[in-house]
Amino acid sequence: MSGIRNGNSGSTLITNIGELMTQDLEHRVLKDAAIVFEGERIAWMGSSADAPSADEQIDAEGRAVLPGWVDSHSHLVFAGDRTAEFEARMAGESYSAGGIAVTTGATRAASDDELTRLVRDRVAEAVSQGTTYLESKTGYGLDVENEARSARIAAAEVDEVTYLGAHLVPKGSDPEEYTDLVCGPMLDAVLPYVRWADVFCERGAFTEDQSRRVLTAARDAGLGLRVHGNQLGEGPGVALAVEFAAASVDHVNYLSDKDVRALAETWAGWDAATGRGTKGTVATCLPACDLSTRQPLAPGRELIDAGVQIALAANCNPGTSYTSSMAFCVTTAVLQMHLSVHEAVRAATYGGALALGRESGNDADGERAVGSLAVGHRADLHMLKAPSATHLAYRPGIPLTHSVWRAGVRAA
Ligand code: NIG
Repeated sequence: MSGIRNGNSGSTLITNIGELMTQDLEHRVLKDAAIVFEGERIAWMGSSADAPSADEQIDAEGRAVLPGWVDSHSHLVFAGDRTAEFEARMAGESYSAGGIAVTTGATRAASDDELTRLVRDRVAEAVSQGTTYLESKTGYGLDVENEARSARIAAAEVDEVTYLGAHLVPKGSDPEEYTDLVCGPMLDAVLPYVRWADVFCERGAFTEDQSRRVLTAARDAGLGLRVHGNQLGEGPGVALAVEFAAASVDHVNYLSDKDVRALAETWAGWDAATGRGTKGTVATCLPACDLSTRQPLAPGRELIDAGVQIALAANCNPGTSYTSSMAFCVTTAVLQMHLSVHEAVRAATYGGALALGRESGNDADGERAVGSLAVGHRADLHMLKAPSATHLAYRPGIPLTHSVWRAGVRAA
């Protein structure tokens, strides 16, 4: 158990863990457990009594350890403030996508250094609360130069970048011409920086036909797909995501029975016990956003019961969800969406990894799975100031992060 990799210190043993919630394929929850990691790789897990020695030893003193949160939906590249819009909403106005234009103006006006600092601060805030793997979208540039700049800045600061040129048709642009731009020159400009593409398929944003064009162009360019769908009303978002075999459809507040069935069918060829087979479309629920926009909470319970794999994400953005707290999402999912603590934590770790295609890896090649704890996976650990994950729901609002390791490096 020695050796130094990737510039990290040698092996670390954490012992006396009250509850080690692995979120692995067997859903193991180990009591009085220990874990060893070498560099970025988990090397051993088991009972504290059997733990091998290591270069560094940490006594968890009975605290719980979980995988770090995998936040699979955020919009971190923005400048400006939308407090006034939030206040108006709390006074009774309803959310509309129009506010995106306010943030676009402020984002375009910010310098590269300013935007980089803002994104870095938001990432640091998330990591300090236990997030160890983070996606961010573009979507507040909305012209070729500013979408490419947003993608470049995000790529330097987060783990996964999603192109969201199709967030809103900028004021004064013709919707069809703007969609051409999103599918053509803008897509070409962001390609070096992004792995995913997304479209906001909603009334007031992009129509079904426009969304289909965006998804087709992105797929042809080799990007993985996701869809913002069914956030403000029933609509074609889920059906489109299923048709395009998107990795996720996000928001999912207003679902018909047909939508739920269609999502469940995408998982029929996947074996949850082995993680093998053809993966379906993850339904990503965003409870902090739902509360802030006063939308009904996404039907996470119904989706799980139907056999759909779900993720929970914070959706940090200035308009609908200005928080990076995954713990808040987990708490809400338990208290309001009727998920068990294990299900909510799973959706915020393994579920996010599934949505990002990072739930499995290849130990021999050094390709590390995230979102669950098993030998060979990335050492992304979140230790709580509590003996069990149940305290996340039992003690709502209490900051329970004790310490965080990201790829084996102490990050908080
Ligand atoms: O995921 N729904 C679209 N996009 C963001 C909100 C964007 C904004 O209002 O600034 C979301 O909620």
